[in-house]
Amino acid sequence: MKKQERIAVFGATGKVGRELIGLLSRDGISAIAITRNKAKAKPLAGIQWMEADMNDPGAVEQVMRECRTVFLASSVNPNFTQEQGNVIEAAVQHGLAHIVKLSSPGADKDSRNFIARPNGVVEEHLKRSGIAYTILQPNTFMQNWIGHFSETVQRERRIYEATGDGKKPFLDTRDIAASAHAILMRPEGHRDKTYLLTGGEAVSYGQVAEAIGEAIEAPVEYVSMTSEEARERMERFGMPAMMVNTFIAIAEGQRQGKADYVNDQVEKLLGRKPIDIRQFAKDHVRYFK
Ligand SMILES: NC(=O)c1ccc[n+]([C@@H]2O[C@H](COP(=O)([O-])OP(=O)(O)OC[C@H]3O[C@@H](n4cnc5c(N)ncnc54)[C@H](OP(=O)(O)O)[C@@H]3O)[C@@H](O)[C@H]2O)c1
Repeated sequence: MKKQERIAVFGATGKVGRELIGLLSRDGISAIAITRNKAKAKPLAGIQWMEADMNDPGAVEQVMRECRTVFLASSVNPNFTQEQGNVIEAAVQHGLAHIVKLSSPGADKDSRNFIARPNGVVEEHLKRSGIAYTILQPNTFMQNWIGHFSETVQRERRIYEATGDGKKPFLDTRDIAASAHAILMRPEGHRDKTYLLTGGEAVSYGQVAEAIGEAIEAPVEYVSMTSEEARERMERFGMPAMMVNTFIAIAEGQRQGKADYVNDQVEKLLGRKPIDIRQFAKDHVRYFK
């Protein structure tokens, strides 16, 4: 494959990007994986690691010289719109063919949610840029539970959330990466589309606790907190107010049944059902034992 036909993966050490480069490598697709710190790079056949900070337009431009298509992901932070904007601008300047952007459900530049707002700003930038795009709006990642719950499950056999019996169609990041991969392999069929991605089943945290319990062969209790208890808990961990407010609003939405919806977009892209919570728990049992 010519250099100019390669795929550049921003966020290649992240929860979705690392799965995506694994799929590209498996399929013999030549790709560039971007990180700010090459010490994090995992050697993979066909994958060239490049160090670039998206805040540095010069470094981003170097990447653009080497590729034709971009997968765009980074963690939400105060510079998010600027750094993702740098990638979009450089892609336009270098005449790239297509950007697949990892966004979030409800992305909206006017939202007060600290995740939806910056993703909404970038989505608008991308749509205005004239470059062909596909936007992925995946539901909450199952892989978040590794950080959020592994300690309390290991120590107390409990998970704490403030969502009552409310359900959500959580997604495994392997399915999000596989969806991005399917699009990157045939971008023309997904030009200028926005896909809301959900898991195959909306589940409550009671069901998540049950699935993790089955995997570790020990009962796990779901402790349903009030919003106030959740607020106190996050504040105790020193989380900024803006983040606390967003997480409380997201939990309240789930408790009120507003997150209880499922679509078949992942199945349409992958030709199979999404990974369910039991499979996720089985595959990640080491984090919860
Ligand atoms: N978590 C969820 O449940 C969820 C749900 C829906 C949507 N999302 C969306 O998913 C996106 C995050 O994706 P993720 O969870 O896969 O990422 P992640 O695990 O948070 O990892 C962040 C990645 O971004 C890279 N990065 C951050 N700042 C960078 C910079 N300035 N320059 C270059 N690379 C940078 C990091 O690379 P290095 O550290 O190696 O440099 C890393 O690979 C966000 O847009 C978020 O809104 C998340």
